[in-house]
Amino acid sequence: MSKPYKSTQTVWDSRSTVRRQQRRILSDGDITGYLFPPAIIPLCADERVLRHGEQFKRLLLQQCAYKYMSDVAHVETETINRVTLEIVNRRDGLDLPEDMRYDAYTIIIDEAYHAYVAADFVRQVSQRTGVAPIAAPLHSELTKAMERAKQSLPEQMHRNFDIVAICVGENTLTQEMLAITRDESICPYLDEVMSDHVRDEGRHCVLFSDLLECVWAQLPEAQKLAIGALLPAFLLDYMRPDLNIAFFREILVALGMDAEEAAAAVADAYPPMSTVEIVAVNPILGHLIGILERRGVLAHPPTHAAFLEAGLIQQQAA
Ligand SMILES: [Fe+2]
Ligand SMILES: [Fe+2]
Repeated sequence: MSKPYKSTQTVWDSRSTVRRQQRRILSDGDITGYLFPPAIIPLCADERVLRHGEQFKRLLLQQCAYKYMSDVAHVETETINRVTLEIVNRRDGLDLPEDMRYDAYTIIIDEAYHAYVAADFVRQVSQRTGVAPIAAPLHSELTKAMERAKQSLPEQMHRNFDIVAICVGENTLTQEMLAITRDESICPYLDEVMSDHVRDEGRHCVLFSDLLECVWAQLPEAQKLAIGALLPAFLLDYMRPDLNIAFFREILVALGMDAEEAAAAVADAYPPMSTVEIVAVNPILGHLIGILERRGVLAHPPTHAAFLEAGLIQQQAA
């Protein structure tokens, strides 16, 4: 590692949401603001959706909020904590700083609490409005992309791949949360819940970036070759909103839109994109590549070459 890892226990003790924040409560009266930011749901600008009126849009955003919270609860417990437990319980076979293993406990506590807050959000909003969640796929984009990537990786490399993948995932989720909190049209309850979460995730990003550097440096060359070659496809798969596309079609129909109209609206809002287009429109991808660069992953020549070939990075001018 570039510098020795030092425990952030005292910061966690005084600043973590689970330690310092009382339960957030949806305030009495009508819900003001949107339950999810329209700016990050391209469908909200579609003329077919707009034609159905403001209440339709509000209900669409409410279902988006339910799905987002359900994804959070799922990914925190089933993916981030499942892999972090391996680190806490020393099943990873890696030489990691003791302070880092100790801080991994705080990740597990935080993520379990974030899952609880997300479930609480869905309960409070659905009880207040009488609008139940329409069944969402119990599978996040991160979990889906990890499972697909591991299909082409020998089983003995799965554990290390999982660690690399959640290091990427933790940095992605934080960027997505920042985008949600930046929208001023959201309701105060969502803003409070997301602001609490993103503050915790700011600390997690540092630990997971340090962990990435530590793990990558220790991977045997055969694993660097295999995992490095998979990373570009994994990142692109992760960034493609396949699960959202299927979900949106279902939601629009459940809200009363004709199936054909719903399919057309979703197809327009989420057109198929080339790698170049994804890189151009998705700022998170550039952010992740920056982390992979700074943490030594792209210093591995075959991995660097795989990113170049995938069009995720450009050849530096000589
Ligand atoms: Fe979290
Ligand atoms: Fe986290």
